[in-house]
Amino acid sequence: MTVKLQLDRVSKKFGSLMVADDVSLDVDAGEFFVLLGPSGEGKSTLLRMIAGIETPDSGTIRIDGQDVTDLPPNKRNIAMVFQNYALYPNMNVYRNIAFPLKMQYFPPDEIEPKVRDVAKTLGISEILDRRVNQISGGQQQRVALARAIVRNPTLFLLDEPLSNLDARVRFAARAELKKIQRDLGQTFFFVTHDQKEAEVLSDRTGVLHHGVFEQIGPFDQLYDTPATRWIGDFVGDVPMNYVPWTESGTSGSMGFRPEWATVSPDGAQSATVQVAERVGDFTYLLCTTANGLRVYLRSLRSMSVGSEVRFNVDRHVFFGGPKDGEDERVSSERPERLPPRRA
Ligand SMILES: Nc1ncnc2c1ncn2[C@@H]1O[C@H](COP(=O)(O)OP(=O)(O)O)[C@@H](O)[C@H]1O
Ligand SMILES: [Mg+2]
Repeated sequence: MTVKLQLDRVSKKFGSLMVADDVSLDVDAGEFFVLLGPSGEGKSTLLRMIAGIETPDSGTIRIDGQDVTDLPPNKRNIAMVFQNYALYPNMNVYRNIAFPLKMQYFPPDEIEPKVRDVAKTLGISEILDRRVNQISGGQQQRVALARAIVRNPTLFLLDEPLSNLDARVRFAARAELKKIQRDLGQTFFFVTHDQKEAEVLSDRTGVLHHGVFEQIGPFDQLYDTPATRWIGDFVGDVPMNYVPWTESGTSGSMGFRPEWATVSPDGAQSATVQVAERVGDFTYLLCTTANGLRVYLRSLRSMSVGSEVRFNVDRHVFFGGPKDGEDERVSSERPERLPPRRA
């Protein structure tokens, strides 16, 4: 794998606000990298530093091995796609796509085949004559991508490009974006606050929190083995469950997701059924324990709301350190099972 983008100890402050604190990252050529984090964590600032719109206070940014830290945006061979697409609403689709080539003084007879080619790739050949304010949000996204692709950039930077689409279009646009990136074989650096987008799109996801990457890895890894409790709570539809834990001088907490539990007649723990839903042979249960843990269980027996059910926790992650392991790294020593807790 060749490294396409390299951040080497990049830092950036706005006044006393540290938005990037000694950040290092390698993105491989052809990788779909998603930068995930809540709003205000510095995602756009990091992307803008890669683009050359913001300057880091310290550190080095390399694209294709070349130090671009002090290069202006137009010398970096990157393309950006924004949330609002920044298209020209009164121009037709063709002229929008052709625009960056015109700005680079390509002759018209070279521009036309390039525009038609990329329009074909993105399936928008039929709408080249339509004005941008007359096409759908999903089509606008494709036009914005086409305009980025036509310049033949070496790196695509996308800042929440799906956020303005309504839910139904967003679902299709997401799948399409993934396919386009695969077909192009290009490197995408994609910013979002939406973990579903990270899950569906990314080869790897990096989660930015307090100016540092709290964890970088395949999305499943973030979900299955969160590095910190903060990640455990941020990734996933609902927060993890935590149980304080102490053994032979080590204290911390055991974290497990609600679905990491199985019904068992002689299970170590007991919970009360809050919601029961019958689907085929199974009854799906949302249950809570007396001490506030939440578990999702599947039972072959029909169960009703208010009844007691016994279960075992199948697996868990150990968070070590003070304050029940909050914000502490996962310990390499992970106990095999939760300590038995009899109600
Ligand atoms: N040019 C700027 N000057 C001062 N503060 C800024 C500037 N740009 C962003 N910020 C602040 O930096 C923080 C991170 O912003 P941003 O990178 O836009 O976060 P995100 O994209 O994750 O929502 C925010 O608190 C924002 O208000
Ligand atoms: Mg942003």
